[in-house]
Amino acid sequence: MSTGWSLWVMGLVVLNIGITLFLFFWGTRVSIPTEKDGTSGHIWAHGVLREGVRKVPVWWYVPSVCVFIISITYLVLYPGFGNNPGTLGWTSQGELERDIAVNDALLDPIMQRAETQSFKSLSQDPQALHIGHRLFQDNCAACHGRDGLGNKVIGAPNLLDGASLFGGSAEDIVKSIRDGRNGVMPGWEALGYGKVKNLAHYIRRLSGESADGPSANAGENYFGTCAACHGADAKGNKALGAPNLTDNASLYGNSIEELMTTIDKGRQGYMPAWKDRLSNAEIRVITAWILGNETASAGK
Ligand code: HEC
Ligand code: HEC
Repeated sequence: MSTGWSLWVMGLVVLNIGITLFLFFWGTRVSIPTEKDGTSGHIWAHGVLREGVRKVPVWWYVPSVCVFIISITYLVLYPGFGNNPGTLGWTSQGELERDIAVNDALLDPIMQRAETQSFKSLSQDPQALHIGHRLFQDNCAACHGRDGLGNKVIGAPNLLDGASLFGGSAEDIVKSIRDGRNGVMPGWEALGYGKVKNLAHYIRRLSGESADGPSANAGENYFGTCAACHGADAKGNKALGAPNLTDNASLYGNSIEELMTTIDKGRQGYMPAWKDRLSNAEIRVITAWILGNETASAGK
């Protein structure tokens, strides 16, 4: 705060406290002319309401005087009176730094442990899992959902269903988070509406959902084009992030309409890289949280 503003604030504080104190003491001394009936003589509502003259009760003075004392003591001890830092030297910045230091002292041992601890023991460590979940919610929930169950609109996969695009080992997950991922599924508009629809029925049949038999049979005939990435058995290819089409895990949805859009237009799921934003230990505790919850939700 510049000196000018500081003086302005000081002036306002002195003026405010001064005026309030003046009113406070003047109010106890001033005598109000009183009529014989004990009122001030002011009447309202055709004489129904008459203004009485009463002294302020004593109980009211006690807290009021305390408030004056507290506010002046506060201005002496803490910042508030212009640029005056207060005799305690308290600052909000200093308090924040102390809180951060206390927090770091609690976190440091856990995060150091996380650098070397095995994923198996990390995923059974409640403190590490708690931090992992928090980090997940702060960084990943926007796309993968609060609890990691995915988002079909952008094709962010469910991370806890045991299915995986790029591999579900701890190392695969760490790599997905560190370096990001980008699966590219080309669009097949050129095949035309009929064939795209038949392929959609075939894929529904592959994943055990109701499909039109003749359409699915026809779709199977041109699945060869797709097998290059999804594999002849349609079980996917982890090197490309091409999903397994035979399970019921789904990135973009499994209805005929959703499948047709996927096949017709193609999809490019994009997972950003986190190596510059999260430390190694942070990536490891998030991975442990994913693995710990995956095991729990898959009932393994
Ligand atoms: C901008 C949205 C977005 C954010 C933020 C994001 N992800 Fe992803 N993530 C995706 C998408 C989309 C994919 C699928 C990539 C693909 O289709 O190739 C993905 C894929 C993954 C995979 C690979 C899954 C598999 O099946 O192989 C993992 C693991 C993962 N994300 C974890 C995380 C973690 C942990 C975070 C937070 C640190 C995070 N993601 C933040 C969008 C996001
Ligand atoms: C060049 C490799 C490649 C080819 C060829 C390919 N795909 Fe894909 N496909 C992918 C990848 C990679 C993804 C994941 C896209 C993403 O991560 O956003 C995908 C996703 C899909 C999905 C979405 C699955 C889900 O869970 O929502 C369907 C359906 C699909 N492909 C069907 C097909 C069909 C049908 C063909 C043949 C006409 C085909 N793909 C050909 C690579 C390929």
